Amino acid sequence: MKALEDRILKDGVIKPGGILKVDNFLNHQIDPALMYDMAVELKRLFGDREINKILTVESSGIAIAIMTGYVFNCPMVFAKKSKSKNISDDVYSVEVPSFTHGNVNTVVISKEYLHENDKILIVDDFLATGAALIGLRSLAAQAGAEIVGAGIAVEKVFQGGGNKLRAEGMDIKSLAAISEMTDDGKITFA
Ligand code: G4P
Repeated sequence: MKALEDRILKDGVIKPGGILKVDNFLNHQIDPALMYDMAVELKRLFGDREINKILTVESSGIAIAIMTGYVFNCPMVFAKKSKSKNISDDVYSVEVPSFTHGNVNTVVISKEYLHENDKILIVDDFLATGAALIGLRSLAAQAGAEIVGAGIAVEKVFQGGGNKLRAEGMDIKSLAAISEMTDDGKITFA
């Protein structure tokens, strides 16, 4: 998606370790018009499928996911990072390791909001190692829900998560796919 690629080139900041900071429009200050345009593009890409729920994980996925729910006219549910070690019977839960933050989060969704007959589009801001998608896939499987596809704002192709999950059958589409990022600030899109 050209508008997103242009915005990454204009406002993205490369940090050591292959991290792209996009705090100016996606991760801290949020550009609602760009979120909306991304949601419209996801509707173009996935609009021919039966989808009744948008699923993401807190926190940075929520902005684009809520706009996507608006455009698809369906609810958006976000998995919560649980601080409690005592997980109740009322939730589905999974442990998600974060390569970027170097920790492991227990991520939960209330059983009230994820069901056997759900047809889910996962939406997230970044796809790097794929840990978040694997976690959400597990939560959906626990509920018996079907994942129809995954729409990602920024895929860092060089971290391999996307292609691994595609090989496992997940239909993933990225709005900006970065094949290379150098420490001196050069970004190459796939
Ligand atoms: P994943 O995104 O494929 O799951 O891989 P990883 O384990 O590396 O991601 C850990 C967290 O860091 C995720 O956020 C992910 O969205 C974010 N992330 C990964 N690469 C980048 C990057 O280059 N730039 C930015 N800005 N974020 C990146 P999270 O742990 O779910 O937390 P939150 O930040 O959404 O609250």
